[in-house]
Amino acid sequence: MDSGTTVETAALFREAGWRIGNVHLENRVVLAPMAGATDSVFRRLAREAGAGLVCGELISARALVMNNRRTERYLRIDPAEHPVSLQLFGSDPEVMAEAAEKVAAAGADIIDVNLGCPVPKVIGGGDGCALMLNPDLVGRIVEAMVRAVSPVPVTVKMRRGWDAAHENAVEVAQAAAAAGAAAIAVHGRFRHQHHQGPVDLGVIAAVRAAVSVPVIGNGGISSPADAVRMVRETGCDAVMVGQAALGNPWLLGEIAAVLSGRPVPPPPTQRERVEMAIRHLQAFIALEGEKALPAMRKHLAWYIKGIPGAARIRDQINHMERSDEVIRLLRQYQEALSD
Ligand SMILES: Cc1cc2nc3c(=O)[nH]c(=O)nc-3n(C[C@H](O)[C@H](O)[C@H](O)COP(=O)(O)O)c2cc1C
Repeated sequence: MDSGTTVETAALFREAGWRIGNVHLENRVVLAPMAGATDSVFRRLAREAGAGLVCGELISARALVMNNRRTERYLRIDPAEHPVSLQLFGSDPEVMAEAAEKVAAAGADIIDVNLGCPVPKVIGGGDGCALMLNPDLVGRIVEAMVRAVSPVPVTVKMRRGWDAAHENAVEVAQAAAAAGAAAIAVHGRFRHQHHQGPVDLGVIAAVRAAVSVPVIGNGGISSPADAVRMVRETGCDAVMVGQAALGNPWLLGEIAAVLSGRPVPPPPTQRERVEMAIRHLQAFIALEGEKALPAMRKHLAWYIKGIPGAARIRDQINHMERSDEVIRLLRQYQEALSD
């Protein structure tokens, strides 16, 4: 890669498809788990737009095991979104294993363990990124989950490390792989960086070199060129895209095309972006009801970001209480757009 502006067209992989355990994936692009965003509606749209695998947000293993009603909604899977990975957080191997059984029964194709969440509420309980300080416990968690749900693959998603003094992704990856993890996603940032700032590709390359299971590179990918650079510099088997796919699921298809040597599809028109916003809203309201409208506002803003007049439309939407009003506004906006 020279700069980030040109994209090679030669396929980076001999085969477009690959596997995590017994699960076949048609391409090497993964939608990252994102709390409050990657529900079953967005995951379905992301699959349709070209992701080979979609991931659900972190779910409390303890709450699942206690049959918490609010938590069980995170287990909803749309038949059109498979293959789908659902993620658990927790640090008690037995609780994680019991929760994994529930996630498997709900139809998840893959079950992931969260080793990256930086939020105080989560790390305060020794979960999420705090687990990276204890590779031995990571191994015991993965082992218990694998025993409980095999042949459903168990994977882990980790960070570069807890902080610069504890940059131990390789050690944690080796513990997870030895315990039976079927793939390892590495987000090349530390806990304090949350989801912003420089991403270290070197640590992803080091994990790739240290384990024999597939490694998924994550962090800072916002274009096909970024994805190519991630694969070239780390040797990762697949790329995971988070924030840049919000409001732009087409990016996932563009990256899938580039990684398999196909021409990049043209970007969506402004009208197509508004159409997607409407479809997303309709599907979300059909599933969650009118009361869920506020949760959709951020998605709608992401879809129209950068289109002329978007700020005004966003403000109007923020004052609306009913989805039919919002859809009418978006239709008018769409009709007025020049393309
Ligand atoms: C709003 C938001 C919510 C997130 N929630 C989760 C989560 O539930 N589980 C997880 O493993 N990572 C979570 N992440 C981290 C992403 O999966 C990803 O690792 C991170 O955003 C880096 O990728 P990116 O630079 O492509 O966005 C979240 C990130 C964001 C921005």
